[in-house]
This record gives sequence, C-alpha cells and structure tokens, in this order.
Amino acid sequence: MVKRILIAIITFFFVQALFAQRMSIDFNKDWKFYLGNDSLASAKEYNDTKWRTLNLPHDWSIESDFIKEAPATNQGGSLPGGIGWYRKTFILPSSAKDKLVSIEFDGVYKNSEVWINGHYLGKRPYGYVAFSYDLTPHLLPAPQKNVIAVKVDNSQQPDSRWYSGSGIYRNVKLIIKNTISIDYQGVRVESRLSSPELEERGNWSKYKPTKGSIRGSVHIGEVSITNNTDRIQSINVLYRLFDMQGREIDERKSENIEIKSKDRYSSAIPKSNVSYKIKPHPILWSVSNPYLYKAVITILQNDKPIDEVSTKIGFREIEFNDQKGFYLNGEPLKIKGVCLHHDLGALGAAFNKEAARRQLRIFKEMGCNAIRCSHNPPASEFLDLCDEMGFLVIDEAFDMWAKRKNKFDYHLYFKEWHKKDIEAMVLRDRNHPSVFMWSIGNEIREQFDSSGTRIAKELTDIVKNLDPTRPVIAALTETMPDKNFISKSNALDVLGFNYKDFDYSALPSRFPGQKFLATETASALETRGVYQFPADSIRIWPPNYKVQDTFSGGNKDYTSAAYDNTYACWGNTHEKSWLAVKNNPHIAGAFVWSGFDYLGEPMPYPNYPSRSSYYGIIDLAGFPKDVYYMYQSEWSTKNVLHLFPHWTWNKGDIVDVWAYYNNADEVELYLNGKSLGVREKSDTSLHVLWRVPFTPGTLKAVSRKNGRTILTKEVKTANQPARIELSVDKKIMKADGKDLTFVTAKIVDKYGVLVPDANNLLEFYVSGAGIIAGTDNGYQADTVSLKNNKRNCWKGLALAIIQSNGKQGNITLRVSGKGLASSLISLKAAD
Ligand code: GAL
Repeated sequence: MVKRILIAIITFFFVQALFAQRMSIDFNKDWKFYLGNDSLASAKEYNDTKWRTLNLPHDWSIESDFIKEAPATNQGGSLPGGIGWYRKTFILPSSAKDKLVSIEFDGVYKNSEVWINGHYLGKRPYGYVAFSYDLTPHLLPAPQKNVIAVKVDNSQQPDSRWYSGSGIYRNVKLIIKNTISIDYQGVRVESRLSSPELEERGNWSKYKPTKGSIRGSVHIGEVSITNNTDRIQSINVLYRLFDMQGREIDERKSENIEIKSKDRYSSAIPKSNVSYKIKPHPILWSVSNPYLYKAVITILQNDKPIDEVSTKIGFREIEFNDQKGFYLNGEPLKIKGVCLHHDLGALGAAFNKEAARRQLRIFKEMGCNAIRCSHNPPASEFLDLCDEMGFLVIDEAFDMWAKRKNKFDYHLYFKEWHKKDIEAMVLRDRNHPSVFMWSIGNEIREQFDSSGTRIAKELTDIVKNLDPTRPVIAALTETMPDKNFISKSNALDVLGFNYKDFDYSALPSRFPGQKFLATETASALETRGVYQFPADSIRIWPPNYKVQDTFSGGNKDYTSAAYDNTYACWGNTHEKSWLAVKNNPHIAGAFVWSGFDYLGEPMPYPNYPSRSSYYGIIDLAGFPKDVYYMYQSEWSTKNVLHLFPHWTWNKGDIVDVWAYYNNADEVELYLNGKSLGVREKSDTSLHVLWRVPFTPGTLKAVSRKNGRTILTKEVKTANQPARIELSVDKKIMKADGKDLTFVTAKIVDKYGVLVPDANNLLEFYVSGAGIIAGTDNGYQADTVSLKNNKRNCWKGLALAIIQSNGKQGNITLRVSGKGLASSLISLKAAD
C-alpha cells in the first residue's frame, strides 16, 4: 500500500514536472462525423448526438462502394468526394490554465475550415500539408466544454490525378504549452560533418576522409521562441544531444536571453552556443545503418524547464556528381528508388503507421533504398519510419503550379497559397535525415513557357531560405534545354527526368555540368498472376498519347500480363528502364513508377470498372508481382531465384517460363526431373526464358555459381482447391486501436500447392479485440468495397487487415469459402 502511494506521489510530481513543459496530446479519438453539409454545424451548441462517432485518421471516400459515375472518375479511384463535417467536444485539463493551447493537423483533404467554440479560425485549401491553429483566446476552462468543428470540402471533382481520399486523414494533436515556448515547427537542426582532410581537399566524392578523422557537430540552425506574457522574460536555452541508446553525448547552455512581451525570439544562435561535439566521431546515418541521434531543446527559466522539443537527427553527407552520380557519406550509391502515392490500399488515405511500415518493409526486402513521395508531402510519421528504416526521401511539393492538370486541382489555389504550402513542407520536414532533396514539382506545365523560369526561381528561393542544406530538384519531361523553361532557370541543383531513357546518354552534352536523376521510370503495366503467351511480345498500351482516353485494346478482363512486357507509350519495360539507369553512371538513380499499385489512374483502361493502377511492382493488397524479384535480383545482395509462372496449365499449352536470379552464373530448368537446358542472362536481358510444352508435374530451377548450387525453386501442378491457408505478419498486436495485422489467405489444394486461378469467395469474420479494417485481392477491376468482409480471391490470394479495437484480449479470425475447409487463426492484442 505504502509502495502504491509512493508511486502515485512520484507519478504526480513526474506528470507535474512534465507538464511544466508541454503536453502533446493524441487528439484522434472520439470525433463526431457527418457526411453531408450543414452550415449550422460550426456553432458550439449544435446538436451532433446523432452523428457517427469515430477515431481519426479517417477517410470517408474509402468507405463507399466503387461507383461507376463517381465525379472523380476512375482516374480518381471511382470513389466519391463530397462534403463532410467533424466535431469534437473536449474539456481541458485544469492544468491548462494560463497555458497556450493549439491544434495541429498533419493533413486534411481538402479545403478544410476550422472553428473553435463557434469562432472561425481559417481555411486551408491544399490537402497535403500540415497546419496549426492557436485556440487559446477562445477556449473555456475546465469543467466547461469546448467544441472544435471542421468542415472538409472535397466536392469539386475531378481534382488530383489519383485517389486523394477525403477527410481528416492524418493525425491530429492538441498541444498545451507555456506562454513562453518554442513555436510550431520552431526548431531547425543541422547536422554537419567535417574533417581536416576534407577541408583541405574538397568534396567527399573526390576525397574520402578516413573514418577516425570525421568530425560531427550539430548546429541548431534556428529556434524560435515567443513570449506571450505581458512582461519581459529572461530565459536560457539548453541544448542536449543523445545517442540511440539514450546516453547524453553533449550539452550546451545559452547565455541569458531577454524576450520582450509579445515578442518572438528567433535565432541563428552563435555556433559556440549550440554546436554539440561528438567524440571520437559520429556514427553516420546511412540506408544500411540508419543511426539516429536525438537533439533536445529545452527552455529554462530560473533553471527550471518550461518547454521542451526534441527531434531525431542523423549525420550524413550527400553529394551529386555530374559524371558519377550520387554519393552517400563519400561512398557511391546508386539510388534504387520507387515513387509512392499516399494511399494505403484498402485503408484508403487514412494514415496508419503500421500499414506504412509494412510497405517500407516490403521495399527494403526488395533492395530499395529511396522513396519519392509523389507528388506531395507524406504523413510526418512516414518520414519517421524512413529515418528509422533507412530510406532516402524526395519530399515533393506539387503536381501542378498555376497551370491546371484537372479542372479543380490545386492550380486554383497556387497563386494565393504556394508560398505558405511549400514552406509548410520544408518547415515540417527539414530535420529528417531521410529527406535528402526537395522537389518543387512534377511534370509542371510551366516547363514549356517563360513563367516556368520565374516560378522555379521563386519556389527554390523559398525552399533555400528555410533550408540551405538540401538540393532542390523538379521532375521534368522536356529533355531539350532550349525548350525547358524550368531547367533554364538554373534554379535546380539536380535535373530530374521522367521516362525518355533513350535520351539519358545525350543529357551530359545537352546540359553540360548538370546532375541527373531519373525521377520516374518504367510505367509498365501488370496484374499479379496473369500470364499470356508469348511472353516476349511487347505491348504498348496505350500506343500513343492521343488514344489514352479512348484506348479499347487490352484484355477483356481488364488485366495486363505479369510478364514484364507491357507499358504505357511514354514508359518502357522495367528491365529496359533499369538497364538504362544502371548503364549510365551520370544518372544518379531511378525512381520506378510505381512502388505499390495505388487507387486511381488505371492506365491503360480509361473506364470503370478498372479503378486502381497497374504500375506497381507490388499490387494494391501488398502482394509482390513477379517483377519484384527482378528488382530484388538487381538491387539486393541476397541470393534470388524466382521462377514463374505457376505450373497448372492445359495439355498442349506452350508455356513461357521465366526466371530472375542473381549471384549465380546460370540457371538450369527441369521438368519432372528432365533437364530443359541451361540459360544465362545477357547484358541486355535480366531474365532467362524457356518455352515449355506443358506436362503436369514439377518444374524445378537450379541456380549455380562455378558449378555449385546457389538456390533451387520448384512449382508444382495444382489439384482442386481444398482449403484456405492463412499466414500473418504478426500474431501479437498492440491494443491501441491502431495496430494492424495483415492476414494472407491462400487457396491451396490438398497437398498445399497454391491453386493459381482460384477466385473463391471468402468470408472473413473476426471476434474478440479486433475489427476488419479492410480486405483486398490486388485485382484492379474488383468493384466490391474494400471495407467489405467478403472478398473473392484473385489468382489464389486475398488479404484481410485486422485492426486492434483498443481493448486487450484474444482475436479470432475465421475464414470460410464454399467447398473449402474453413480456417481459423488466433491473434492477440496486448499492451
Ligand atoms: C507520369 C506522372 C505520374 C503518373 C505516371 C503514369 O507522367 O508524373 O504521376 O501519372 O506518369 O505513367
């Protein structure tokens, strides 16, 4: 008992001590939501009891069935936009008295308007940036209630060229802090490396300093602090640096700082005050060892902490070379990247950290080391993951400037908002070590006229003013210098080019001295598990730009073969695209279009029911397509041998068998024990092929190096579907109402062989401490809502996403399908 009281007292003081600083409250729970417009809903007294209660992040569009007539069209994912309202009633803690209270939104799609207790706070048209409002003047102290109301208007369509989602789709925080405190996004930290050798001899790529000679220092580039009190205040700032184990490395304390009442203190504080030293040398952040330090900035008054902000940082040196590409920490590194839109498949745009972690894990396994967040800034937790997991990130501001791509897209707001919006990106993201470049735009129409020069300069200046340390890029399409008004601006540090790999070799002579990155490659089209012969006949779908809205070729079932032989006319096969980047050392790397399939933009099919893209290396459900293993064989160091297609065909079929492999000289294929020959890759082809008349049985591939077996892979002819095999990425989740488990259901025959064409309808039932957050199968023309608990398998596979319901306990998932033995899996949600 005494112990318990003691713990309570200690906890109380601890909480008080913490609260003497700032509270950052997860403000996602228990919002009221109404899909529709009611202009009275901004009023405090409005009766919202009949509205639905939900937790954020939330995307209302994904909850709908797919709709043929959706105003966003199938390019926007065949899902509705509309207007929605959110309200949250809350009582402030009594300790919030005399404090500042603000709300931080990480992203609301779009045109959000916010009221606190009926007072209008403002509007934010752009749906992909973070923003904050000060609530303090309008709040009522405990025990009175406060109401925050948010109107979201995504009714004007078509808007984004892909699925945007609708609603408060990223995290929301309530910040309670002292009246003298660090401003919103008010800390900029720069981690710098130096060495005596470098200082003497120049660039990292030209001279690599010895490890022991590298010095690291962290400079607090800027801290902005506001004194909201009525009196002049005297403070000190304490700067501390911790390593990954939480050990303090160094600390510095500023001199006394006096801030006048209502004044803002903003500093590029003298070096000596804020530069930590790391001895003997810093551990560098890299894609293979993403080592993070933590900088903690504390305001002290009379030696007591009154506010504190911390940020993870990493030491890394990036450099582009016009001839040799990219260097990370002095080592050459080919950028092996993917472009990624923000939707999370069946979860829609509603951000979920575990879903993003899964995507990144799948990329990492493939050997991918970089992400281009196309074509807008991602959720901030996505960048936290990239910091932790080791990905280089291009943070991109816009898909258009003042010239439109769609009738209701951001061009409507560009003139008034571009400065604020691009600043919001840089201010939020500039401390992340993963962010290595800023992109000011993608395939911007102003490339073709002189306004492109002016705007490129202006945007670059805005970015550099807030962060002079990172290169600025734009993703361009025009490869002739005299026609490209953005490259002409000379504002860009690196020229990004989308597609046109046939021009790579000419770029250095056309743009002398410039640095290059392939910001988009491929745009190849595949549906997982679809095989058509002959596999080596190339299909260009659509064959030219003119027919892209009317293209009527393609397959009857809206698929595209999973052999890497189909692409849109501006693109190329994955193999050819990658070979072009690989063989041109001045191209620093590639960002494949695209990492995952995403909702919307279902090229080559201009019409419903196609509603999600075919471009992904990985399908919408997260199942890798075969080409995943081509990249893995080229990008990772692990041994790879991938044999496809399946081996369940009809007598008389001539089947094209492909294999991707690495770390070996050759692959031999056997059918039922009989050799079908040895094949080797060439400089121009990254797979091997056999043309095999089908006979049931076992197809086996063996990769060898110097005669020694490296890997063996088999595929067997399947019998009838017999049962559902379930596998999960994890069995124990956090009981936090957010965590997810991804369950793969696989239709197998009685011997456990995948039935490759199985399309059984599965029903997913969950009981206990979980809910079904979505189901999917990766088929781009499946029109059943992604929230439905019934899902047809596609090519033998389906996915169910189970989410913790916030309570601790067991979770049972039962999956049944007609004519199949049903399956159960037990999961657990724990603290
Ligand atoms: C690019 C564009 C991407 C996507 C891609 C599809 O031109 O930048 O957003 O539309 O084409 O091929």
